[in-house]
Amino acid sequence: MISEKLANLLNDQVNNEFDAAQAYVAMAAYCEHNSYSGFANFYLAQAEEERYHAMKLYEYLNDRGIQVKITATSTPKVDFDSVLDTFKVALKQEKGVTQNFYDLSDLAWEEREHATISFLNWYLDEQVEEEATFETHIDYLTRIEHDQNALFIYEKELGKRTFDPNAED
Ligand SMILES: [Fe+2]
Ligand SMILES: [Fe+2]
Repeated sequence: MISEKLANLLNDQVNNEFDAAQAYVAMAAYCEHNSYSGFANFYLAQAEEERYHAMKLYEYLNDRGIQVKITATSTPKVDFDSVLDTFKVALKQEKGVTQNFYDLSDLAWEEREHATISFLNWYLDEQVEEEATFETHIDYLTRIEHDQNALFIYEKELGKRTFDPNAED
């Protein structure tokens, strides 16, 4: 049995994941507007991934007999200094999400809610991947920041990214 406190925190995370999706669409829009369509594509795929994270939580709560309450998403940041800046903002956002899952796991452990502990482990692993991905992009982009040719090639690579939900589980 999931306590009301834990259910509420899990519910908040559904909405946080939708917030993350909106933030990534905003980054895509910035990149697209500045003619970086490859980076825009990367962020649109990232937004899809965040919606997938939200719906995975949604399904779990449904399975546990809890009605999900969807709230309005918060207004994301829409202005950035550069493409590199979007990745720095993204990493900060991902670190916040990691903290959310640590808090959720702390509570699930406290309540000895073993099924939820098991469910949350997937997200803890996922967050390690998410942070590593953004850290790598920041390192690469910092290195090639002033090299338009390298940036062009890097962007084309990210332009190939697609989101496959079947590859997630
Ligand atoms: Fe997520
Ligand atoms: Fe994420």
